Amino acid sequence: MDGGIRLDPGGGVSRPSTDRVPLADDRRLHTKALAERDRASYAPDGHRPAEPCQQPTLRGGADDVRRIDLLAVDEVPDGTMKFAWVDGVDAVLVVNVGGRIRAMQGICSHEYFELDKGFLTGDSLTCALHLSRFDLETGDPLDPPAELPLALYPVIVEDGRIFIEIPDGPLPVNA
Ligand code: FES
Repeated sequence: MDGGIRLDPGGGVSRPSTDRVPLADDRRLHTKALAERDRASYAPDGHRPAEPCQQPTLRGGADDVRRIDLLAVDEVPDGTMKFAWVDGVDAVLVVNVGGRIRAMQGICSHEYFELDKGFLTGDSLTCALHLSRFDLETGDPLDPPAELPLALYPVIVEDGRIFIEIPDGPLPVNA
């Protein structure tokens, strides 16, 4: 048992009582599951409806999900990206491309480098340190040297604010 986040066969998420753990395959599965849920729930205009997430159901119901207020929509115009800080320590990069707002880990999965210093190039984000590109839809690295995907977080836009919803506990990050 490595203490990471685990998906149960029913699609739920369980978390042991330990604190942050090193990246493991189960965490990658977890972030991919969140990305899948996020993609499935977007409206055609690129914004998720405001109602709570239905699929997959997180074990324990809404009490185990954190909704985190990141930024105002106006702070991230089309074609830009901006950092928000969760719990004062974890950087989340909010990206607006064509009105589609996404949120992902703000620090590169390759080495510690702030991705808001990178470049938006169509549907990818380029890290400015070693120039790996990441697919904005999946978080997957498109070029070396990065090998791990960026963790993506489900976004909700409501009342002019940008929120993410994550399982209660530390922000999932790939590093
Ligand atoms: S730090 Fe981002 S690619 Fe190396």
